[in-house]
Amino acid sequence: MANVCTRISHGLRTLSWVYGARGARRRLYRGFSLPRLPSSRSMDFALEGVHVLVTGASGGIGLETSRLFCTLGANVTAHYNTQLEPLKELLETFPGKLQPEQADLKQETSVQAMFARISKGTFGPVQVAVVNHGIWPSECVPVVDLTLDRWDHLISTNLTSSFLVCRENLRGLVNAEPKVKDKASIVLIGSTSGKYGEAGYADYAASKSAMMYGLTLTLKNEIVKIAPNARVNCIAPGWVSTETALRDFEMIYRSLATTPLKKTATALEIANQVAVLSSSTISGHVTGQIIMVDGGMEGTFLNKPEDL
Ligand SMILES: NC(=O)c1ccc[n+]([C@@H]2O[C@H](COP(=O)([O-])OP(=O)(O)OC[C@H]3O[C@@H](n4cnc5c(N)ncnc54)[C@H](OP(=O)(O)O)[C@@H]3O)[C@@H](O)[C@H]2O)c1
Repeated sequence: MANVCTRISHGLRTLSWVYGARGARRRLYRGFSLPRLPSSRSMDFALEGVHVLVTGASGGIGLETSRLFCTLGANVTAHYNTQLEPLKELLETFPGKLQPEQADLKQETSVQAMFARISKGTFGPVQVAVVNHGIWPSECVPVVDLTLDRWDHLISTNLTSSFLVCRENLRGLVNAEPKVKDKASIVLIGSTSGKYGEAGYADYAASKSAMMYGLTLTLKNEIVKIAPNARVNCIAPGWVSTETALRDFEMIYRSLATTPLKKTATALEIANQVAVLSSSTISGHVTGQIIMVDGGMEGTFLNKPEDL
């Protein structure tokens, strides 16, 4: 480095003498052929033609995420369970870039059948899996009154299903070509409930904690045995302005009480983070991270003045 600096200052002194200060600088730098800045500063996600599976694509966050991936040129398998209708607009807007796939992801055979159909399709093996599907219980029930049926249903719908999707995704990658494996990535959707807990929703909070910590952190170590550059990350949203979230205003108030940004996220704000983490160009060295997309939330609101 010292050498280069000495050469520049010597060169400048000599050229200034002949061409004047500004002309000298121009000539010297031309001689050194400094790296040029790209003419466009827009960021390339390099997701063009990458096969992305979005589970729960018929829901609020999944739909916005699927739309964003289509816009970025990815080939999107948009999974749904009971509702194809919300996906119809995307199917019309992005012909040939989006294929819908139905599956009840808590059923092992249903997940396997979906991946079998996908593997026979034109998009090739799934490279980016966005494990986004999930349910939020309609009733607030403290653990003391929680039935085993509700617990089992929630855990199998949110957590066991996520394990099944990740497992089939890994199996699909085993024999994939190196260029397919190179862009492999999994993004799981957790929740602030998984970090702070959620009174009345222990089943949901437990399913998200398991996804965010045990599953994400184990998968990021295992996936590299199959695809050396593959990455696994998790995004944990706070409240998002989707129909599901806005059902319960009391809950939103309680959550925003500790959130400096004092607002819920939009589905697009979550989708943007998913795209950033999915891109092996932008996040190629990012794995095993739990990104809180929560407006700076510090926890849940526990006590009102009268409780103290
Ligand atoms: N919205 C929020 O405020 C918020 C906050 C934190 C975390 N999250 C998480 O973000 C994710 C998406 O949330 P969202 O608000 O977009 O939810 P949403 O609108 O209710 O959509 C949920 C999606 O999950 C699918 N799904 C439900 N049960 C399924 C099953 N058994 N098998 C397969 N798919 C199933 C639904 O499919 P069908 O509709 O086709 O049946 C739907 O596509 C969830 O994991 C959620 O826990 C959401």
